[in-house]
Amino acid sequence: MFITVEGGEGAGKTTLLNRLYDHLVASGKQALKTREPGGTPLGEEIRRLILHAHEFQLESRTELFLFLADRAQHVEKIIKPALNDGKIVLCDRFNDSTIAYQGLARGHPTDKLKALCQFASGDLTPNRTFFIDIDPPEGLRRVAENRGDALDRIEQETINFHTKVREAFLTLAERDPGRFVVLNGNQTPDEVFNAAIAKLPG
Ligand code: TMP
Repeated sequence: MFITVEGGEGAGKTTLLNRLYDHLVASGKQALKTREPGGTPLGEEIRRLILHAHEFQLESRTELFLFLADRAQHVEKIIKPALNDGKIVLCDRFNDSTIAYQGLARGHPTDKLKALCQFASGDLTPNRTFFIDIDPPEGLRRVAENRGDALDRIEQETINFHTKVREAFLTLAERDPGRFVVLNGNQTPDEVFNAAIAKLPG
């Protein structure tokens, strides 16, 4: 079983993912939590390049291919082996983030991105995707409040960019209601968690 958690900046993805992981492990399930970009040693390097290496002035297509390279490595080295071992894999972001951020927000055509994402992920699709919905100004306020260091390269984008990301996620969720569960990110972490476990696939 492959479960992903998606959302804009400061939505509370990581909190939810950690709580879902603890819940599954406490109920005797074998689970693995991981994230994108990141999740492998190479992926953590790619994450640093994308989010923190301002000196390269990444072109948006370069940025796209770095996310896809991260994913290809992550799927083959970590996600697929864990799924083959019968583990429940919980992943913080996956293909939907690429469609939302590099698609609608950066302006690359969605149909091309979908094909590239399928290729990079070896046709792997999550069984369940939780999208935590939050107003971008509120999410960015939370990031600024909780973070000691400066905002990263993508967090620094305009409100207009982050609003497009949110709209893209909502459209993806609307088109695939069997896979997506939309959670209201204005609720408390407990409420978000309880709404999510009610929708864990059986
Ligand atoms: P986060 O893991 O802390 O949310 O940060 C990851 C950032 O990378 C976030 O701004 C979303 C962005 N991102 C993309 O733009 N495309 C992608 O495919 C992925 C996985 C993340």
